[in-house]
Amino acid sequence: MKVTVVGTGYVGLVTGVVLADMGNDVVCVDNDPEKLDKLRNGVSPIFELGVDELLRSTIADGFFRVSDSIGDGTKHADIVFIAVGTPPGPDGTPDVTAVKAVAKEIGRNIDHYTVVVNKSTVPVGTVDMVTKIILEQGCPQDMFDVVSNPEFLREGTAVWDTKNPDRIVIGSRSPQAASKLQELYSPLEKPTILTDPYSAELIKYASNSFLAIKISFINAISRICEEYGANVQDVAKGVGSDTRIGNKFLQAGLGWGGSCLPKDVAGLIKIAEQSGYDFALLKAADEINNDQTHHFLRRMEKRLGGFSGKTVALLGLAFKPNTDDIRDAKSLVMIEKLLAAGAKVQAFDPVATDNVRAVWPQVDYKDHIYDVTDGADALVLVTEWNEFKSLDLNRLGACMKQKVLFDGRRCYTKANADRAGFEYFTIGS
Ligand code: UDX
Repeated sequence: MKVTVVGTGYVGLVTGVVLADMGNDVVCVDNDPEKLDKLRNGVSPIFELGVDELLRSTIADGFFRVSDSIGDGTKHADIVFIAVGTPPGPDGTPDVTAVKAVAKEIGRNIDHYTVVVNKSTVPVGTVDMVTKIILEQGCPQDMFDVVSNPEFLREGTAVWDTKNPDRIVIGSRSPQAASKLQELYSPLEKPTILTDPYSAELIKYASNSFLAIKISFINAISRICEEYGANVQDVAKGVGSDTRIGNKFLQAGLGWGGSCLPKDVAGLIKIAEQSGYDFALLKAADEINNDQTHHFLRRMEKRLGGFSGKTVALLGLAFKPNTDDIRDAKSLVMIEKLLAAGAKVQAFDPVATDNVRAVWPQVDYKDHIYDVTDGADALVLVTEWNEFKSLDLNRLGACMKQKVLFDGRRCYTKANADRAGFEYFTIGS
């Protein structure tokens, strides 16, 4: 099929290359000339496993190209995806300015029946808004339909997630548009949920918010575990073994960050408020999350007798492993607090260092992992990169002033730490 994707962020680019890899004729549109240059040369502007390879192979096979023109993209395609950013506004409501601008341009250029798909996470009612904007451009209603088709990919595993979704959600009032999208996704052979646009738009917010609540729930349990000397990992195992609950998203840690969970939780709180409902449960999950890193910092501060004059080594800066994304990363909360309290901060991350350096140039960034503890009073594990899980603790500890490990992601055990002479603190035990 002929497909255009407007916006080459995580969602847009990954959707584009995966659809091209499935044999569709794909055009990805963006207005950033630097991004387009990279893409033309088969270089992904985002750090995401497998995207470079798919870009190069689909360009070589003639299934993928880029353009700076939404007009050309619209004329090219039977299906046009809108996958532009919807950053949270000051009150948590997603800012749909970019979606509106793209819809306008699509509306001006439709010259044959086109299915316009909202892929970005957008407020309930955006299908109606996009429909209205396209009609306002003089495009007749029988030339197009607008559909909601939310994306559930995770950063770091985005290509795999897009090829192997648990479900495909299509929110459409038009059977013709829904069946076009079903045809596009049919090679994936995954369950499809056909529903109305409002429900589809809500499914995305409800899914991410539920995941956030699950994490905040186990983090709340971790606080109780700490007081009683129980072990949150065992509690999570016991709870998650109930198939009605499931064992995913029960890893206690410093809390959730990233580009989606914080944004979608804030978005759903606002959506609920606008409908007249006070979503107290979700607000509480958000508060638990905001306090989780501060609670760990308070434990660190107590053990170290204050941060002033201390050197603290951070392992991991990205908001989660396998990405260079630092949006709402817990490392940023830590750095801000530690520097303000007079600590010296040293840090190592496999790929996210440059992004954090741009925000916090005061931090001493190390190029080699084993240099991070040079002269440190404490080592803090912030992001659970795989390579951090089997480090030589003896080597890390050798150059420290005090051998104290604060494990914010439960990658080690007290027994591991003991063997290397480390005093060990972690979440939930
Ligand atoms: C999330 C959703 O999973 C995805 O479906 C949606 O499309 C986008 O948002 P992502 O933000 O890439 O994906 O990361 P995810 O793997 O879900 O992790 C989100 C945050 O939760 C991270 O900060 C992670 O460290 C944290 N987390 C996750 C936990 O603290 N514990 C867990 O058990 C799982």
